[in-house]
Amino acid sequence: MMKDELQEIREDALKQIKESADLKGLDNIRVSFLGKKGRMTAILKSMKDIAPEERPKAGQVINETRKVIEEKMQEKKELLENAARDAKLRQEVIDVTLPAKKRRVGHPHPNTIALEEVERIFTGLGYEVADGPEVEYDYYNFEALNIPEGHPAKDEQDTFYIGNDILLRTQTSSVQIHMMEHGKLPIRMIAPGRVFRADEVDATHSPCFHQIEGLVVDKNITMADLKGTLDEFAREMFGDDIKTKFRPHHFPFTEPSAEMDVSCFKCGGKGCRFCKGEGWIEILGCGMVHPHVLEMCHIDPEEYTGFAFGVGLERIALLKYEIDDMRLLYENDERFLQQF
Ligand code: DAH
Repeated sequence: MMKDELQEIREDALKQIKESADLKGLDNIRVSFLGKKGRMTAILKSMKDIAPEERPKAGQVINETRKVIEEKMQEKKELLENAARDAKLRQEVIDVTLPAKKRRVGHPHPNTIALEEVERIFTGLGYEVADGPEVEYDYYNFEALNIPEGHPAKDEQDTFYIGNDILLRTQTSSVQIHMMEHGKLPIRMIAPGRVFRADEVDATHSPCFHQIEGLVVDKNITMADLKGTLDEFAREMFGDDIKTKFRPHHFPFTEPSAEMDVSCFKCGGKGCRFCKGEGWIEILGCGMVHPHVLEMCHIDPEEYTGFAFGVGLERIALLKYEIDDMRLLYENDERFLQQF
C-alpha cells in the first residue's frame, strides 16, 4: 500500500522535474514534495501507523525515494542554471564596433586659475591663506569693521539675513576681525572666499561672488608697505609693464583708504574699448587699518599698525582672460571653460 503510493510519488516527481522549465518552477516542485507540507513528509509522518517490525524496511524505501528525487532535482537545477547563464551571456555580447565612451576630463575654472595665481603671489611674499565662515554674525561683517547700525554702507550691501544678527557675509573683510581677535601678531594673511549680496544678476553682478581679503598687522607698517606690496602684486598678476595708481576713497574700516587702478594691459594706457577709453582699470580697495578697528580687536594702535585690501576674484578673472560677461563664469559650459 505504502509502496504503491511511494512509487506513484516518485514517478510523479520525476515527471514534474523533467518537465520543469525554470528554476522557480523547480523550487515549487521541491516544496510540494520535500517541503514541510510536502507529500514525502506526509508519508514519513504516516510511518507511525505501520507495524513496528515493518518500519525499518519502510523507512529504507522512503529514504531511497527521497534520495532519488533530490538527486534528479539537483541535476535539473544545474541544467537550468547553466542554461540561464548561457542566455544571459548571449544577451550581454559586447559589440566591439561601437564607438568607445569618451572619458571626459574636467578643466580648472578661470576663478580657480586666478585664485591660485593670487595665492602663489602672496604666499611667495610670506602670507598665510586663511579661511572664515560664510554665515557670519552682524558684528564681524559690519559692527567690528566700523559699520554700526544705520551706517549707509550697510544699506549698500543689502544683506541676506538668516536671523536678527546672523547673515551671509557681504565681504571677506570679516575674516580680518577673526584673525585679529585670535591675538597672534604679526599678521600677514590673505582670505579668499564666497560673499553674498542681494544683487540682481547681470553682466557685472551676481548675488554670490568671491573676494580675496588681505591683511597685514605689524609694528611700523606704513602706507609705503601697502603701495609696494600691491604694486608688486599687480605686476606679477598682469605683467611687468603695468603701472599702478592709488586714488583716495572711503572705506569705514580703513583710514586713509584708496582704490588701486592698474594701467590698461590691453592698450598700455592709451585708452581703448577694454578700459572704456580711460587708460586705467580699477582693481581693488585698500587702506590703513582704522585705529578703532584695531582697538576693538584689542590691538594697541600706538604699537601696531596695518594695511588691508579687498579684491574681487571674478573681476580679476574677467580682466585677465578678457571675458566680458560675468554670467559666463557661472554657467560652467565646458566649451567655455576649456579655453583657459
Ligand atoms: N570689503 C570691501 C568691499 O567689499 C573691499 C575692501 C576695501 C576691503 C578696502 C578691504 C579694504 O580690506 O581695505 O567693498
